[in-house]
Amino acid sequence: MDFSNKLTSWYLDNKRDLPWRKTKEPYFIWLSEIILQQTKIEQGMSFYYSFIQSYPTVFHLANASEQEVLKLWQGLGYYSRARNLHHSAKYIVENYNGIFPSTYKELLKLKGIGDYTASAISSICFNEPHAVVDGNVYRVLSRVFGLQTPINTSKGIKEFKLLAQEVMNTENPGTYNQAIMDFGALCCSPRNPSCETCIFQNNCYALLQKEIHNFPVKTSKTKIRNRFFNYLVIVSSDNKTLLQQRTEQGIWKNLYEFPLLETSDNCYLNHEVIQQEIPFTQVQSISLYNDIPIIHKLSHQHLHIRFWFVITTEIKDKGVGLSQITSFPVPVVLHNFIEKILLLNAS
Ligand code: ADE
Repeated sequence: MDFSNKLTSWYLDNKRDLPWRKTKEPYFIWLSEIILQQTKIEQGMSFYYSFIQSYPTVFHLANASEQEVLKLWQGLGYYSRARNLHHSAKYIVENYNGIFPSTYKELLKLKGIGDYTASAISSICFNEPHAVVDGNVYRVLSRVFGLQTPINTSKGIKEFKLLAQEVMNTENPGTYNQAIMDFGALCCSPRNPSCETCIFQNNCYALLQKEIHNFPVKTSKTKIRNRFFNYLVIVSSDNKTLLQQRTEQGIWKNLYEFPLLETSDNCYLNHEVIQQEIPFTQVQSISLYNDIPIIHKLSHQHLHIRFWFVITTEIKDKGVGLSQITSFPVPVVLHNFIEKILLLNAS
């Protein structure tokens, strides 16, 4: 079976019409690949358009403030990707005069660029034969070739990269890489693959074994950490609130949030505890907004979130007017609360 030729000719008939496929400019390919690591094509497109409109060149991105970049990224989640994007744009401007590095090896030195992104950029823009391995590639290769090593182990990661490299078309690596990803997304999909019309139906190991849904193999999931967040939404009579920036490593670094009280379990806070946290005395009332916590799921953590309204007469320093609150980059769960609850109640 000539795996790569079959895939490439399938792609020429079936490929998706995507805006970043009209260019080989590494800056645009980089933006699209980083965005697509975070979201699906449909949503990714609107973020891609916003980014290239706001930052048409790497110089524009490098000159932006981190806060502005985080704000534009808001909603995609996993904000370290946006910080790395901004950091690498500045690095490229300062160290390469704004000209993108053109080899896999050089690309890997940039913050936020790992094997996947360096392979994608170097193959699509510079014709270097580096095979991409993403979720689509794991699925296609494991099914067609019957590779059963769990993909979430270092052994699996190595074996799949080797196999991907071995079966790739090295003459048109960029086309091949995009072909296998499109094929995984459009034909060899996770739940409802189109096996009856598939170009590999006579060779596919998983199909012949009637085991399509058992591929790719994963070891049992990593343990999820539960965390319990109480946000204090302080509102003063002159319509100000208090936001704080998260500076520590971990989730949501550099984003803004309401003052946070984290507890070790799902217990209720009592009013004295809340009052002690608030650096001014004229608290008029404290009320719990949601008795049932909102559960916000991140990859390794489930956040159980309660909001508390704290009404005060005034907020002395660092208060933010409610009319300015939407200019701060905040986690999406807070963005939703601000838009749907806080601003509607205040207006
Ligand atoms: N997913 C992420 N990057 C992609 C690309 N370049 N083509 C198809 N699917 C993708």
